[in-house]
Amino acid sequence: MFKAYFEFLQGNNIDPQKYEGIANSIFLRRQFVAKRIGSLFMQYLKLDKESDQLKILDIASGTGIISRHLVSLGYDISALDINKEYLKFIQNQNSSIKTIQSDMNRKLPFTSSSFDGVISIGANRFLTKRGLFRFIHEIYRILVPGGVFIWPIFFSDIMVWKSKTSIFFPTTSYALQKILQREGFVVVKKNYFWKDILCVRQKPIYLICIKKKR
Ligand SMILES: C[S@@+](CC[C@H](N)C(=O)[O-])C[C@H]1O[C@@H](n2cnc3c(N)ncnc32)[C@H](O)[C@@H]1O
Repeated sequence: MFKAYFEFLQGNNIDPQKYEGIANSIFLRRQFVAKRIGSLFMQYLKLDKESDQLKILDIASGTGIISRHLVSLGYDISALDINKEYLKFIQNQNSSIKTIQSDMNRKLPFTSSSFDGVISIGANRFLTKRGLFRFIHEIYRILVPGGVFIWPIFFSDIMVWKSKTSIFFPTTSYALQKILQREGFVVVKKNYFWKDILCVRQKPIYLICIKKKR
């Protein structure tokens, strides 16, 4: 299990079934995080029976643990990942999720203002030095005015991310919040430290980033 967890942190292409096992283990408890993200979207992107379904993009979706939970709540989900195997796995699990193979360090293959919400979790360490700034710019571009980007920042991710970039590279919620604000987002920080005390490995700070309505 430790070897697999290490491979997971390194980003090695591990088998989707094995990935699901690690992600739902006591180390990561992704189902728990998925529920928290779901409730944050329900709070900031209210589902209204009268209007069209709200569209959310899950960037670096992995095998779709977050995507599947958001679909079950009633959102229209697109999952983007660089790994074809994970996207195939998502399709087999739930064919209503649209899948897109793409690199999050590059221009995203969507027109401007095409999503109401964006989520990206557990993949910051794969953003390159140039990629981070493009990533934030692209998310801003593809969101509708008033759209919401939920970005959980994990301590474990920060350590690996710094080792891949540099010690001075912006990786903390504080530094990322500044870049998001410069791009035009209004940022709200949420920390559930006390509520997550039993969830030993996973106490992210959630950055809730709202694209200002002009
Ligand atoms: C630790 S997993 C997180 C998956 C999922 N968000 C979750 O929480 O279960 C990291 C994911 O990032 C994806 N990834 C790595 N580099 C990427 C890139 N440059 N563009 C898009 N996805 C990438 C990997 O394929 C993997 O699915």
